[in-house]
Amino acid sequence: MSLPTPLPTITLTNPDAESLVYLNGAHLARWHPTGQNDVLFMSAASNFAAGKAIRGGVPIIFPWFGAREGYPQSPAHGFARTMPWNVINCDKRPDGACALTLELVSSNLTRETWPYDFALRFTIAAEKTLTMTLTVTNTGAVPFRFEEALHTYLAIGDIRNASITGLAGVTYIDKVDGFKRKQQGPEPIVITGETDRVYLATQAECTVNDPVWGRKIVVAKENSDATVVWNPWIAKAKAMGDFGDDEWPGMVCVETCNVADHAVTLEPGKTHAMTARIEVR
Ligand code: BG6
Repeated sequence: MSLPTPLPTITLTNPDAESLVYLNGAHLARWHPTGQNDVLFMSAASNFAAGKAIRGGVPIIFPWFGAREGYPQSPAHGFARTMPWNVINCDKRPDGACALTLELVSSNLTRETWPYDFALRFTIAAEKTLTMTLTVTNTGAVPFRFEEALHTYLAIGDIRNASITGLAGVTYIDKVDGFKRKQQGPEPIVITGETDRVYLATQAECTVNDPVWGRKIVVAKENSDATVVWNPWIAKAKAMGDFGDDEWPGMVCVETCNVADHAVTLEPGKTHAMTARIEVR
């Protein structure tokens, strides 16, 4: 699928992979190793407009995840995904690849909603392996607490034939069952309905097994203590204006994050870095 470009984009042409980044949200919308199907799902119904979230790819979630507690007027998943970021570096690697770094710093606009000073940097090294690092620096004088996620939409042949391993025995918050805490069994996760789970206290690598496209997508991570697994299934897909009614079988989100119990407290002058590493096998 060719992606619309009414917004500024950067194409990274590396020897082993192709990728496309929107400056709106520092949003990686495409990445796949040369010769592979897209690894990141993008909705054909997505908005591509300044100030709007893009549906698919890797939205950056900061400084809160989901609904902001106590602030019903605040946008879901924070403001980082809908703001324009600046390119600050393109680091050329010896193999000809480049790692792109984008930045978003606090401003009067962000302080109106969230009264802290910060600098976010997002580095994308989109090669045969995709490595993404989000760093958060507290540039203010007081500590702050934040949640963050690399809300990665993975493209798969058919969710009804896929499974996810890596989360056996892990406790999760089931957002579609009153936020009850449950424990994942030993068997691979098979998705059979709307699924919206925050897996807690897990640094584990996850694998999405996709027999339809004959591949496995492996998501490894560093400094991330939670993993979210999400598929909207039929009714929620229909209810979302920026998601095609029939697109739900072709995606699953496996999100590298620090959310809920794992929100991070950052002291002034300190930096926190979280990395997701994605590979196709
Ligand atoms: C997931 C959340 O990370 O993102 C879900 O756990 C949410 O609850 C989904 O529905 C999509 O969120 P949004 O704001 O992009 O529609």
